[in-house]
Amino acid sequence: MMEVKIKTINQLEVGEVFQGFFIVKSAEAKFAANNSKYLDLILGDKTGEINAKIWDCTEEHESICCINAVIKIQAEVSQWKERLQLTIRRVRPLTEKDGIKMEDLIKAAPYSPQSMYEEIQQYIAKIKDREIQKLVGTIIEGQKEKLLYFPAAQKNHHAIKSGLIYHILNMLKTGEKICQVYTFLNTDLLYAGILLHDIAKVEELDANELGIVSDYTKEGQLLGHIIQGIKLIDFTAEKLGIKREKSLLLQHMVLAHHSEPEFGSPKRPMFPEAEVLHVLDLLDANLYTMKDVLENVEEEKFSEKIWSLNSRKIYKHSL
Ligand SMILES: [Fe+2]
Ligand SMILES: [Fe+2]
Repeated sequence: MMEVKIKTINQLEVGEVFQGFFIVKSAEAKFAANNSKYLDLILGDKTGEINAKIWDCTEEHESICCINAVIKIQAEVSQWKERLQLTIRRVRPLTEKDGIKMEDLIKAAPYSPQSMYEEIQQYIAKIKDREIQKLVGTIIEGQKEKLLYFPAAQKNHHAIKSGLIYHILNMLKTGEKICQVYTFLNTDLLYAGILLHDIAKVEELDANELGIVSDYTKEGQLLGHIIQGIKLIDFTAEKLGIKREKSLLLQHMVLAHHSEPEFGSPKRPMFPEAEVLHVLDLLDANLYTMKDVLENVEEEKFSEKIWSLNSRKIYKHSL
């Protein structure tokens, strides 16, 4: 009998039959045109995500393939609308014998959370205004435990273990360079705005220690991280007796960081540091997504349309 190889998502080729271990990212029971029930799955591993189907599914299939379960499958790779897709022939839950840990399948930031936390502490130390430094230091310290593993999103950019702190750190590093060119910018405000802009994501999303989001929290759905962040700044600044003006500026930066009303910001940035925060946020999110998308595109080919990049197709050049 021919041996069926164990593969990861980035190794798959059209037409082959393979085996693999994956995390179930989403699972939905649907009905085909002939009224038979099938399972529509998104599976993920360290190298990416892929759509998979179990045709004529049973209740057992449904119970094995619940969200965040780790499964072993045997499947055939096909292509549908320029994307690879799997047809699962066999599926079972992970067993101890497999010798696979959930961590082996989780995508994580490229640096250790502890070292990233130390680096963001160095930026807090660079904030010269004692009140702003105290405010930011207090809020970050208060969220340290979750910040170490939290992703920055459920889908889209930095939806990986420790993605939130990685996103914040990248923005701080880039922001520091921008301040060397545009020397009129107030670095205290910019660093503080970067450090706080998404901090309330730890309250907006429900994520486990592997950085997997199960859902939005109730407050996250009803308010969202922008309003939750503003409340946190307002409350903490009041408690610490920090000047109203400073708290207000930071609240505006958080409020305006998505810039567009349809993306959750009721006001556009109204001063330079708020503008830079918005641009940095967008830059880091878009570059992360482009890099991630291109990992699964062949040279001199286009990706599919990427919703979070205004439905652009991204081209992988060969230079
Ligand atoms: Fe945000
Ligand atoms: Fe952000």
